[in-house]
Amino acid sequence: MTRNIAVIKGDGIGPEIVNEAMKVLDSAAQKFGHTFNYTQLLMGGCSIDAYGEPLTDETIAACKAADAVLMGSIGGNTTTSPWYKLPAHLRPEAGLLKLRKSLGLFANLRPCVLYPELRAACTLREDISEKGFDMLIMRELTGGLYFGERRTEEIDGVTTAIDTLKYDENEIRRIAVKAFEVAMKRNKKVTSVDKANVLDTSRLWRKIVEEVAKDYPEVTLEHALVDSTAMQIVRNPSQFDVMVTENMFGDILSDEAAMVTGSLGMLPSASLNETSFGLYEPSGGSAPDIAGKNIANPIAAILSGAMLLRYSFDMQAEADAVENAVKQVLAEGYRTGDIMSEGCKQVSCSEMGSLIAERV
Ligand code: IPM
Ligand code: MN
Repeated sequence: MTRNIAVIKGDGIGPEIVNEAMKVLDSAAQKFGHTFNYTQLLMGGCSIDAYGEPLTDETIAACKAADAVLMGSIGGNTTTSPWYKLPAHLRPEAGLLKLRKSLGLFANLRPCVLYPELRAACTLREDISEKGFDMLIMRELTGGLYFGERRTEEIDGVTTAIDTLKYDENEIRRIAVKAFEVAMKRNKKVTSVDKANVLDTSRLWRKIVEEVAKDYPEVTLEHALVDSTAMQIVRNPSQFDVMVTENMFGDILSDEAAMVTGSLGMLPSASLNETSFGLYEPSGGSAPDIAGKNIANPIAAILSGAMLLRYSFDMQAEADAVENAVKQVLAEGYRTGDIMSEGCKQVSCSEMGSLIAERV
């Protein structure tokens, strides 16, 4: 099959890790007889430098024309980079938020898996990490605080900033449906995370999630408060299967859950709309402090490539081959610096990519 992939390498470590993801995708294409055509696009800081804005209409159109988007990471050091002297709507992150919205990517899937080989890199006590865990965070991605009206103004002589948190029932219903659908293919448990003891949006969230749950009698539903969930993720992460939550809670909890898997560099993500189209990116940031040194962990980007094969191209065997190659390389003891532990072999970003590509 021939497929067209829009590639946004972005800023910081983005280009290095996406190069490795493309290396592995090409290896899968070769093995299974596919052709992947790549169209490289700019977004984030590099687009600001080239075009004066973080996301151009041309880039949006080129993404829409592709079968899927593979992305690295965007943004820079928020205290030192000149990008952060610009008005908020012209900063790198605004480009990513606008792209998600323009493509209607409301469902963000972040699978957090603790590989047995990486137990030593897990920051939790051994009696917790040895239970392992495999959870999927389903983060709502185009609503809530990140997209609500915002402004800063003088009110009675006091400088005041206002962000708005708004959700309508349809936005909640469609993400809840996605969560129950994936739970049916996993361990049939959904934990819906909210702050219903305080927020109206959370009370509506709970009500709609309960309505949706009626269509999935085989799935066990539990509700949990976000503060308590943050605590449970480090106390007993093996209790979770699918976690569904609103945009900001999902942003925060997924970084926490990622660290429990050993490193933010291990966590891929898929952002989907109602069709098979999707955008695939590591959940971690652009890590400007280590950019250009060939030491970043490309596994999150490579696993994002596997998710692209699985969800957008329906290439299950190909995706399995990539995921198994990652497991094999870890089992053989190869590690990038972030997941290094005693007795393992430390390799660079590009070496890690090549090792995985060879094993696909
Ligand atoms: C993420 C990132 C983004 C987000 C930023 C870069 C806007 O942190 O994908 O988790 O908050 O969604
Ligand atoms: Mn984040």
